[in-house]
Amino acid sequence: MRLPVLLALLLLALPGAEALANEAPAAPKRIALRAARLIDTAHQRVIERPLVLIEGEKIVGVSGGGEAPAGMELIDLGSATLLPGFIDLHVHITGDSTSGTGNYFEDILKRSPIDDAVTAHLYAERTLHAGFTTVRNVGSAEYIDVALARAIERGRLQGPRILPSGLAIGATGGHIDGNTGFSPYLEFHNATGVADGVEAVRAKVRDNVKHGAEVIKFMAGAGVLSAEASVGAPQYTQEEMNAIVDESHRWGKRVAAHAHGAEAIRMAILAGVDSVEHASFIDDEGLRLAKQKGTWLVMDVYNDDYILAEYSRLGFPQQMIDKEKLVGRTQRENFRKAVHAGARMGFGTDAGVYPHGDNRKQFPKMVEWGMTPMQALRAATSDAAELLGWSDKVGAVEAGRYADLVAVSGDPLADIHALDAQPLFVMKGGEVVVRDAKAVAP
Ligand code: ARG
Repeated sequence: MRLPVLLALLLLALPGAEALANEAPAAPKRIALRAARLIDTAHQRVIERPLVLIEGEKIVGVSGGGEAPAGMELIDLGSATLLPGFIDLHVHITGDSTSGTGNYFEDILKRSPIDDAVTAHLYAERTLHAGFTTVRNVGSAEYIDVALARAIERGRLQGPRILPSGLAIGATGGHIDGNTGFSPYLEFHNATGVADGVEAVRAKVRDNVKHGAEVIKFMAGAGVLSAEASVGAPQYTQEEMNAIVDESHRWGKRVAAHAHGAEAIRMAILAGVDSVEHASFIDDEGLRLAKQKGTWLVMDVYNDDYILAEYSRLGFPQQMIDKEKLVGRTQRENFRKAVHAGARMGFGTDAGVYPHGDNRKQFPKMVEWGMTPMQALRAATSDAAELLGWSDKVGAVEAGRYADLVAVSGDPLADIHALDAQPLFVMKGGEVVVRDAKAVAP
């Protein structure tokens, strides 16, 4: 072997040699985004004719007007309104309860988590295309959400940034116990978050963390779309809830507690959870405690419309639909109370109960039930990022954050229904994922 060949081989074997041998890596894309206005939710203001400067996956600057710096590709969104990419704090992105055969029990017996694993990417893509660039997934079979989050992060699939919970934790016979109501001789051999007692719930938290959960979800009380009779009764003792929160926080993970009933809500807040999900029957004491402890409320106020309109046709047991009728209206009235009380409120929809990609339908509900458009938008951007602990990454159009942006036609501050249509433009991490050629000038 001649010396130069040997040398070249040696060089290739050195770390980084491949890059040396090939061309220099492509310079990061530099894009200047212009629109009619930018709703800067973090500072509760509007910037007219903004110019958002993006390098690679991050925002590097935001200015009001001016020319695009030389060397930047200008994307002019014309009369559109630019917003931070939306965040949904409560989704089940690996499943879709609306995609069954219409026979509830047949679906339970014939489908498995493998079916979910195969289709999860479709829901991720739909969610992203709807303008939701970040989601918190609160409960998934078999850690599918962890795998999905990784595949998206590595650029193998299109989807939002996902903060996964892995398995939701809950009591025997409770909201996540899939065996409830079935023959005691029938067993499903899937991974389960069912755990009873202080030691067992601590072990479940550790198991979840071990397998990649970034947030812990547990069922503090009964649910609607499950077979137990109650719609809100506590399903864990105070000691069990305290243990879940203590263990999760020790591992640096925040905790989301499902609770409809007033007592379950109070217990979860006292245990120190970071957010209460649904919070349907929250009472004055619950509101006072939530405010005092800074607990976030994530109330899914769109769901009721969809469940009452579609779930009979989809074959769901009447018992569940009857439970929904007990919850829906009161949850919305309490949402209004919570807004007026000044509680911290995050945008979470329970997507998967209704079809993925319709997440934005909750915005007008939030305004109808007491929020200003700015409050509703903050709940889905800067405020949501705070609950995630991701304020340095997402939720605002600001230098240093990921270039996650959405553009819609019209002005949602003037009319929240501007969000009814699919967004015209979606960018995640500096990559354009949606660009409606008809509506947005090139
Ligand atoms: N996953 C929730 C449950 O089964 C859905 C509740 C939907 N209803 C509502 N009004 N938010 O409990």
